[in-house]
Amino acid sequence: MTDLDALPPDFRWGAATAAYQIEGAASEDGRAPSIWDTFSHTPGKVANGDTGDTACDHYHRWPQDLDLARRLGLDAYRFSIAWPRVVPLADGTVNPAGLAFYDRLVDAVLERGMTPFPTLYHWDLPQAQQDRGGWPERATAERFAEYAAVVAEKLGDRVQDWCTLNEPLCSSWLGHLEGTMAPGRRDLTAAVRTSYHLHLGHGLAVRALRAAVPGARIGIVNNLSSIEPASDSPADLAAARRADGHINRWWLDPVLGRGYPQDMVDLYGVELPVQDGDLELIGAPLDWVGLNYYFRQIVADDPAGPVPRFRQLPGPNPERTAMDWEVHAPGLEELLLRLTEEYGVRRLYVTENGAAYRDTVTADGRVEDAERTAYLEQHLAACARAVAKGAPLAGYFAWSLLDNFEWAYGYDKRFGLVHVDYETQRRTVKRSGHRYAELISAHRAR
Ligand code: IFM
Repeated sequence: MTDLDALPPDFRWGAATAAYQIEGAASEDGRAPSIWDTFSHTPGKVANGDTGDTACDHYHRWPQDLDLARRLGLDAYRFSIAWPRVVPLADGTVNPAGLAFYDRLVDAVLERGMTPFPTLYHWDLPQAQQDRGGWPERATAERFAEYAAVVAEKLGDRVQDWCTLNEPLCSSWLGHLEGTMAPGRRDLTAAVRTSYHLHLGHGLAVRALRAAVPGARIGIVNNLSSIEPASDSPADLAAARRADGHINRWWLDPVLGRGYPQDMVDLYGVELPVQDGDLELIGAPLDWVGLNYYFRQIVADDPAGPVPRFRQLPGPNPERTAMDWEVHAPGLEELLLRLTEEYGVRRLYVTENGAAYRDTVTADGRVEDAERTAYLEQHLAACARAVAKGAPLAGYFAWSLLDNFEWAYGYDKRFGLVHVDYETQRRTVKRSGHRYAELISAHRAR
């Protein structure tokens, strides 16, 4: 039994999804391709040749999916808005049908008594913007802010809680340095410029949101890891510091008003395309910070490897998810406390946390995902411990509401509280989903 007593009475219980991972309807109602359509349709990029063309067909099945969310007892729903639906092409023309989808969705979330938490960018850059240079170019940040203003204008009368970017680390390091995600580049300069322009886009979008939505509560979502050196050797300790810079500080320092960490600027050796006023925009005050937590990283020096010259070693806990990620809930507590104590964040959300396992549906229609259930309990307990020690944690969003398109891993990796049979699009609430509902209702009843 998990003791969640420390969580505040107004704690928000949520689940998260992302547009390309669930919506499908890739070419309906004026949506144009994103970099993920291009990437997933490129042979060899995604496991089994899977694409998001149909995904969970959420574009058509959203009423049923929101009913499920409500039945779990969620009071907040984090979803992302697809830029390629709203402003599909390079000429900046708004697609009313695309915007109307999110208009209906927000109404429906509210009608079910849940609070909408839209994310403006969860990796689906319109291919038309990519064709003009994509995130390595400053213009993309400016186009992003224009798109943000369009969305804010439409939804701002009902939406107060906004997230600009999801996991810019992945767009930058995985998309432009390691090449394992769209657009699949391997170029340090492009990757660093991407990170900078994502941050700039974030800052410009914050300004646009504040102008359009009085009282908006705005945050950014980063995926962070707790970092441990593989040994006490000076080389491994220095590698851990570099890893912390690459994975954590590069993403937190600038958006929390501290500028870019100089040790990492020196290490990357790429000139940041800073213009007057940029750093103030990038570091403008936020209302909350979102943490996506999945695993810790144990790192060793890798002097012959590419910058940032560290390698990750397997963690000692034999419990691993289907992604081969070590289960390590204390890392979540550690990061929440670090954000509180070192960065002085005054409102935090766990905006994603969850695990993939090889789920199967039993003959009588159940999904007995005991491992995910235990994972959920352990990580919520870590949240409660952090709160007891002073972390201003205001809510938790399980990743994910539904099984979905897990990027380069395709549909093989299932993270949902709700199982999706992709042949029939049948949804089945897993045991972890039922357990989450129980924990929520027990917390409310206190
Ligand atoms: O599925 C992803 C999500 O899109 C971003 N955060 C991590 C999840 C699991 O890999």
